[in-house]
Amino acid sequence: MCGIVGYIGNNDSKEILVKGLEKLEYRGYDSAGIAVMNADGVHVFKEKGRIADLRMVVDADVSANMGIGHTRWATHGVPSVVNAHPHQSTTERLTLVHNGVIENYELLKDEYLMDVALKSETDTEVVVQLIEVFMKEGLEVEEAFRKTLKLVHGSYAFALLDTETPDTIFVAKNKSPLLVGLGEGFNVVASDAMAMLQVTNQFVELMDKEMVIVKQNEVTIVTLEGETMNRAPFTAEIDASDIEKGTYAHYMLKEIDEQPLVTRKIIQEYRAEDGSLHVDEEIVAAMKESDRVYIVAAGTSYHAGLVGKQLIEKMAKIPVEVHIASEFGYNMPLLSEKPLFIFISQSGETADSRAVLVNVKAMGYKALTVTNVPGSTLSREADYTLLLHAGPEIAVASTKAYTAQIAVLSILAAVTAEARGFALEFDLTKELGIIANAMEALCDEKDEFEQIARDFLADTRNAFFIGRGIDYYVGLEGSLKLKEISYIQAEGFAGGELKHGTIALIEDGTPIIALATQESVNLSIRGNVKEVVARGANPCIISMKGLEMNGDTFVIPEVHELLTPLISVVPLQLISYYAALHRGCDVDKPRNLAKSVTVE
Ligand code: F6R
Repeated sequence: MCGIVGYIGNNDSKEILVKGLEKLEYRGYDSAGIAVMNADGVHVFKEKGRIADLRMVVDADVSANMGIGHTRWATHGVPSVVNAHPHQSTTERLTLVHNGVIENYELLKDEYLMDVALKSETDTEVVVQLIEVFMKEGLEVEEAFRKTLKLVHGSYAFALLDTETPDTIFVAKNKSPLLVGLGEGFNVVASDAMAMLQVTNQFVELMDKEMVIVKQNEVTIVTLEGETMNRAPFTAEIDASDIEKGTYAHYMLKEIDEQPLVTRKIIQEYRAEDGSLHVDEEIVAAMKESDRVYIVAAGTSYHAGLVGKQLIEKMAKIPVEVHIASEFGYNMPLLSEKPLFIFISQSGETADSRAVLVNVKAMGYKALTVTNVPGSTLSREADYTLLLHAGPEIAVASTKAYTAQIAVLSILAAVTAEARGFALEFDLTKELGIIANAMEALCDEKDEFEQIARDFLADTRNAFFIGRGIDYYVGLEGSLKLKEISYIQAEGFAGGELKHGTIALIEDGTPIIALATQESVNLSIRGNVKEVVARGANPCIISMKGLEMNGDTFVIPEVHELLTPLISVVPLQLISYYAALHRGCDVDKPRNLAKSVTVE
């Protein structure tokens, strides 16, 4: 979480930095700041709240050709101007922004900074003060920075200004994402290429424990041991228009609407010349060789993993376990003889997933990352990658990445099934085409879903999602969507589990959103609905064509029963969107959240 930017060139840096931070706001949005440097010294502007609030405090009369910026998701210390970055050393010679967590900052403070008065509660201020302490002992800034980096434990992407070195931004990275962007007569730094697409699409990847000396016309990458590294830039293949909202009120709505397009794009990307579905042979071989697949993910990606388990087990007939990344370290399952790990992550940066990946790689196991972001940490560090091709997902609530993850996993399952000699009883390409059309039809019914949100969720303080089989997993995702953006306390349950406790929560009018898309459990889930209705619940039943009954609230088009999550989730996404909208919530930037969770 947190996003950082930096610019050094010929133009005034303020607008470039602030615009860059706007593109990184998905990474955190409780406070923000920039520091720009000119012949008069460093000028720091910080504000609590959004980038729009920061804009109000930036002095338009200050002009400076270099600077750094930060948008914060608080870890150490409450969101406030004092805790907002950039942080400065006591003499104000050094100014630092940081994305990550310094785990040993208390120890460093006790050992080196007993005589230094700290202003903030942040781990970052400890770092900038420590660099200054080493400079007071006689080290040059670069050496003092390097010495500090060798002492800190944890994750960081740093950008540092020194008033005595006015032609340089010092940069360093470990575990947190960071790129250096190259331009004609300028260079930039950013947590994500999106931030600097406004000025360049040429970026250089940084590896962990590297430092970069960024000057206007020169970029030098060095390891902490002082070895110079040469690395060619890559072109960021993101269309700047992909990251604009266009005519949409919110990114979330735009991204829900993009799902048919993304599904079609996935078919296209994974189709061989002869029209069959194709996945890299090495990946299929790794699937074939494995005796058990371990899916590791967080949040919505975990929910996609649950559906992925069904797809892989039912089609390819390989046993699959699905694990929450943050728990894997403590509840490590007994591993089979030939495990294959699949990491599912929209961002490819989730720290919990990465920690597991590092661990299982160290144990010598193979790993595949399914991600939306080529070149992301999880993609780089795994043996194989499958891309989602969903285009940038900017709303904090994940929508198109979820359906893209399921679509890609279905293709992986189908291709593996074929390689293992199991014939599919349906044509997946054709089904995905039908699904794309069905998604489009659902996206055209927005008025209906807005009304459902009014009817069922207007004044409620809680809501329950129920389903059986694969519908249960979609219910979990529906409840996550609703709670994260509308703040309604929403939970998903297996229909049969209600009677084992949760039914005690049902009161007059409690909304129950029930999914009925599976023929084998259609009657039993309806039985569960009857049980809660008898206790006063207000049922919203979303069924599938062919299984519908009188009184159902909405009927989705018919698709293959294994693939229903791809479309049954769309009504849930839209209902959540409108529930949040009606309650006046900030749909794209829900409270306390950030898109990319880069701290464990
Ligand atoms: C919910 C949401 C989160 C993410 C989770 C994992 O809408 O977006 O639950 O799914 O933080 O993120 P990735 O997929 O980037 O690893």
